[in-house]
Amino acid sequence: MSVAECGQAGNVNTGDFDPAAVICRRARAAGAWVHVDGAFGLWALAHPEFALRAEGVPNADSWATDGHKWLNVPYDNGIVLVREANDLRSAMALNAACLTTTDAQADREPSHYAPESSRRARGVDIWAALLSLGRDGVADMVAGSCHQAQAFARGLASHGFKILNQVVLNQVLVSFGSAEETRSVVDKIQRGGILWCSATVWQGRTAMRISVSNWATTADDVQAGIDEIVRAAFKE
Ligand SMILES: Cc1ncc(COP(=O)(O)O)c(C=O)c1O
Repeated sequence: MSVAECGQAGNVNTGDFDPAAVICRRARAAGAWVHVDGAFGLWALAHPEFALRAEGVPNADSWATDGHKWLNVPYDNGIVLVREANDLRSAMALNAACLTTTDAQADREPSHYAPESSRRARGVDIWAALLSLGRDGVADMVAGSCHQAQAFARGLASHGFKILNQVVLNQVLVSFGSAEETRSVVDKIQRGGILWCSATVWQGRTAMRISVSNWATTADDVQAGIDEIVRAAFKE
């Protein structure tokens, strides 16, 4: 198999999902590998409402996600999941005369499944977060961020700003007019220190990209963010 198709579960701008069910069906017919980049969006599968957009994602061959995004554990907790363990092993296995060799089927050798041979126990952070939150806790965190993103969009729209995307997850794209006007608002926000948003270009339009993913964000924080954005947009 030499062809790979990569879809996103949680688009970096809109938060939306590529149609994985269709992609997987077509890729299977063509003998291609399907990888899903779910850096933050894969966690949405924990919540029944937001998992609806992920139809077909489980049919992929491999998935990547980050614990250091929506799960809120420290950098650098990237995770790759591969349907067939042997596929990962054949890509990553590390052999040298000085290394212990094990029967991979019987004994799991960690360095046969990751790019590094020496690393700290990153998985402990993820294990502890999942143990303390449980599935319901992850689902609540996902839903909380998504509802706060909707509140951001509603609040900004009520001040007359244009929301460019359908807010289907935790991402909001806002335009403040021309590319220069939008970049100027983003610049003021970044220097203001109340909240941090980046500028992006989506479908040819420059936008402020609001990404709500911190577990500690409250409704008051969202309102303070909206007030700050309104100040930055209307004040010279
Ligand atoms: C959809 C998506 N893929 C990949 C990445 C890269 O993530 P990292 O280098 O933190 O693993 C990001 C980071 O924002 C992302 O949003």
